[in-house]
Amino acid sequence: MNQKAPRNKAPKRTATSPRRVKPTSSASAVSALKEQLEEKLQLLSETNRQLKRKIFDLYTIFEISRNFNSVLDYQTLLDTFMFTSLGQVAALKAAVFLTREGKSERFYLAKAKGSGALPSAEEYFSATSRLAAYLRRLNRPAPSEDLLRDVASPEEAAILEKFTPGLVVPLIYQTRLTGVFLLADRISQTPFREDDVEFLSILANQIAVAIENARLYDSERQATAQLRSAQQQLVQSEKLAALGEMSAKVAHEVNNPLGIIKNYLLLTRRSVDEQVPVSKSGEYLDIVGDEIDRIARIVKQLLELHRGGQPGTESVDIVGVLDSVLMLAERQLEAAHVTVHKDYRLSPAWVVGSVESFKQVFLNIVINARDAMSTGGTLTVTVDRADSSVVITLCDTGPGIPPEQIPRIFEPFFTAKDPGKGTGLGLSVCWGIVKSHNGSITFSNMNPGGCFEIRLPMTDGKQARDVVA
Ligand SMILES: Nc1ncnc2c1ncn2[C@@H]1O[C@H](COP(=O)(O)OP(=O)(O)OP(=O)(O)O)[C@@H](O)[C@H]1O
Ligand SMILES: [Mg+2]
Repeated sequence: MNQKAPRNKAPKRTATSPRRVKPTSSASAVSALKEQLEEKLQLLSETNRQLKRKIFDLYTIFEISRNFNSVLDYQTLLDTFMFTSLGQVAALKAAVFLTREGKSERFYLAKAKGSGALPSAEEYFSATSRLAAYLRRLNRPAPSEDLLRDVASPEEAAILEKFTPGLVVPLIYQTRLTGVFLLADRISQTPFREDDVEFLSILANQIAVAIENARLYDSERQATAQLRSAQQQLVQSEKLAALGEMSAKVAHEVNNPLGIIKNYLLLTRRSVDEQVPVSKSGEYLDIVGDEIDRIARIVKQLLELHRGGQPGTESVDIVGVLDSVLMLAERQLEAAHVTVHKDYRLSPAWVVGSVESFKQVFLNIVINARDAMSTGGTLTVTVDRADSSVVITLCDTGPGIPPEQIPRIFEPFFTAKDPGKGTGLGLSVCWGIVKSHNGSITFSNMNPGGCFEIRLPMTDGKQARDVVA
């Protein structure tokens, strides 16, 4: 049998079977692969470095913007900005130029850090120069050597030379160039990188806003301080004027009875000398006595005017106080043919104060009403509440008060009564007492007559000691 010997076929190659390479070409392929791998690794580590720097930059920017927003003190703000910038871009020298108050056309040195040649206080960048216009348009950091070569004026060049090689960072608020920031002397002595430029660009935007805020805050603070001092001066001069006016009025009011006393004492002396009948001297002495009483009354009212400034602390039922005042004045009111009509819609009506002071207020108003109703009339007294106040009204049917006099009735010594009848202190004492108890007192004509309305803060009567007059 002629059997053909089987052909010695080469084994079929599968995907998993190792590729046969000649020994020499395999060594070169390995080294090529190694090279490729090293290249990739280098690229990766650079990307990694850049990424790390970005994260660090972003974190710093986040932190610093939070800090910027809370720092309103100008100098602290600049310090923080400069230290952060220098630290982040690893540089040693920086200077920031800003406008000075009232001089917006120039940027003067506001702060400088680092060693070597630094700009002086007299050197400046002009806000209208070619360099300023260029920086505003560019709106990002530029190498100082480029600006020095292309756009700087001789004055500006003198500053830039101190920061070359370096970076010039425009500070822009809205669309306005508000300052110039310069950096130089990298620790590594290598040029600034692209990520430094990016970081400074973002930070410059933040600082420009923060500087503007701090400036606004500063000028507002100054304006407030000026206003406060002007107000204090005004209050002081008003106080002095009021004191002067008051002293003149007191002197006048006391001088009148003193003059009368002196005259009648002279008359008395003469009548003693001339041995005039005793009854005449007695008459003179009665007049002297009356005038001394008048002085004593003025002094007492003045003291009350002063005491009115000190509020009481008892819980007082206003209805009780009114009742006791009306009882006290009953005989006088009857004699003047004045009928009293009471309309208490709130009773008891609790307020905080002192019974004696409130009595004085109502008595003054009741006596004024009686004096106003010379031919008799009606006095209507009401107590009610409005919101959180007790409202008391005392209305008479007298002639009312001429409108032009109403603004003056609470002034000390204002009286429209006949000479010797009123001192004009009654209502000013009332005003002082009501005000010191955080209340209000007003008068309005009613046709017929007029009404006094007093409002006092209402309480529940449980505070302090309850006092019912
Ligand atoms: N009910 C009233 N009707 C009309 N006029 C009044 C009334 N109450 C006050 N007046 C006017 O207001 C002025 C000032 O009152 P005030 O009580 O302060 O002083 P007086 O009564 O003149 O003097 P004093 O109370 O010190 O003895 C009075 O002189 C009077 O002209
Ligand atoms: Mg009076």
